[in-house]
Amino acid sequence: MRAQELREIYLKFFKERGHSVIASASLFPEDDPTVLFTSAGMHPLVPYLLGQPHPEGKRVTNVQKCLRTTDIDEVGDTVHLTFFEMLGNWSFGDYWKKEAITWSYEFLTSKNWLGFDPDKLSVTVFAGDKDSPRDDEAADSWRSVGIPDERIYFLSKEDNWWIAGNAGPCGPCTEMFIEVDEIPKCGPDCRPGCNCGHFVEVWNDVFMSYRKLEDGSYEPLKMNSIDTGMGVERTLAMVQGVPTVFDTEFFIPLIEHVKELSGKEEFTGEDNRLIRIIVDHVRSAVMIMADDRKIGPSNVEQGYIVRRLLRKAIHDADLLGIGQGFMNSLADIVIDMFKDLYSEVKRNRDFIMKCLTAEEAKFRKTLSKALRKFDKIYQDTGTITGGDAFLLFTSFGLPLEMTRDLAKEKGIKIDMDEFTKQFEEHREISRTATQGRFKGGLAEHSEQIVKLHTATHLLQAALRKVLGNEVTQNGSNITEERLRFDFTFSRKLTPEEIEKVEKLVNDVIKQDIKVNRQFLPYDEAIKKGALAFFKENYGETVSVYSVGDFSMELCGGPHVERTGLLGKFKIRKQKKIGAGIVRIKATLE
Ligand code: SER
Repeated sequence: MRAQELREIYLKFFKERGHSVIASASLFPEDDPTVLFTSAGMHPLVPYLLGQPHPEGKRVTNVQKCLRTTDIDEVGDTVHLTFFEMLGNWSFGDYWKKEAITWSYEFLTSKNWLGFDPDKLSVTVFAGDKDSPRDDEAADSWRSVGIPDERIYFLSKEDNWWIAGNAGPCGPCTEMFIEVDEIPKCGPDCRPGCNCGHFVEVWNDVFMSYRKLEDGSYEPLKMNSIDTGMGVERTLAMVQGVPTVFDTEFFIPLIEHVKELSGKEEFTGEDNRLIRIIVDHVRSAVMIMADDRKIGPSNVEQGYIVRRLLRKAIHDADLLGIGQGFMNSLADIVIDMFKDLYSEVKRNRDFIMKCLTAEEAKFRKTLSKALRKFDKIYQDTGTITGGDAFLLFTSFGLPLEMTRDLAKEKGIKIDMDEFTKQFEEHREISRTATQGRFKGGLAEHSEQIVKLHTATHLLQAALRKVLGNEVTQNGSNITEERLRFDFTFSRKLTPEEIEKVEKLVNDVIKQDIKVNRQFLPYDEAIKKGALAFFKENYGETVSVYSVGDFSMELCGGPHVERTGLLGKFKIRKQKKIGAGIVRIKATLE
């Protein structure tokens, strides 16, 4: 079976069971500037899981492009990828556990569909804790289709609970694993969820029945929903009987091409790791740049991820002795693979190619200098400080993460506080650099959009002060004219509340407070009270913007320097757009 057949039969299976086929949403979340990428099929569907009626009805299915940066440092092993496609089926307050599990089992094992040997199928279900009981209903459904008790594992929240980020719709889940004969169990305790590669997770059925609030508590959802996700690459590997995703048609031509370019005959384990990183990273960067927003490599937001992926690929290709221009020929293979499926890939081919050529030239110009500088600093001082990392970032274009990796190889941990301090001290330089950077791909971030972005942070903080911490961001969208902010709250605001929110925001604007940026480890930022939306999209080190002690949010920016630059804030419209979601439109004059 080829990938396209897998996509087609999945959609056919669920279409026959009353689901409407919907298109993949963009890799760029539509309404949420705080989140970098769509990281799961359910991500664009959050409003419907919270109760808003879906225009296509209560059952939908699709293939969704996803990108996860959380595991970026793991790429190179046999399982991790940054870009991947996810097959999914959803019930919005319609069918429940029994149907979802019975269909999952049928699709996986029936000879009419994937035809996996039922004896190779193991499942995990939620073991229960103080927030939610043990999921016996799911386990019983698995027993009723014939899975024996010894292949049903009860695991804790860490393994069997799905939530995107810190708050929002969530619930227990059941995961399905296929055993790979070629990779033996790593020991007597090897079980589904173990990373050794023997058990490969192919599908996850989530039983959305709770909503997690910002304060960490759970409340039952008004309706129970199903969210399932099946990774195309992994499932394809299992169907084709190959041990890893890199042995499928998605990666074979890319890997062969890289091997050929390297001119080598023999490949060590380390070579193979580098090759996997190169093909994963170039593929992901191509899929990001293919979006009609035309975001190329830059030093901010999604553009920075593109830069980080490409620069790492170039560096690793150098280690394999591959010459200049390899990214374009790899991109050609990726574009060819996806062009008929996602029309934007074909449409934006020229843009992608131009970006690759320019980025490689730009990086090569500085890379050898940067590495020489790194070595010199290390030789002279015996360490790499946060300040050195900052210098390498601003003056030599070496991504922070690459400096961190190079330092790690030498057993050095970069001091992030020092990096942040230097960043602040050189704010003026970095501000100028930032303006320059916008020309390289974020041109749509005009001055007015940046102002409205800062105003959005102030609005969220003010709403939480007036209405309480129940308010959390559900989506946001900014145009030249206005900001739009969707948030969780059970009713519309009263005129007095609107007035209070406006006053709070305008007072902060009048006080002309400095907008501060810091880089912090994710956990520390959250401990300090920074608001975050989807955890999935944040790396280990996060960028945090704060305005005095009024607002603190995880965000890639950009923002204005001081609140005094914003002008007068006014709420123009409010609307209830679904159960528990309110939308506000506001302007700056
Ligand atoms: N949201 C779940 C996941 O991404 C199921 O789709 O695994």
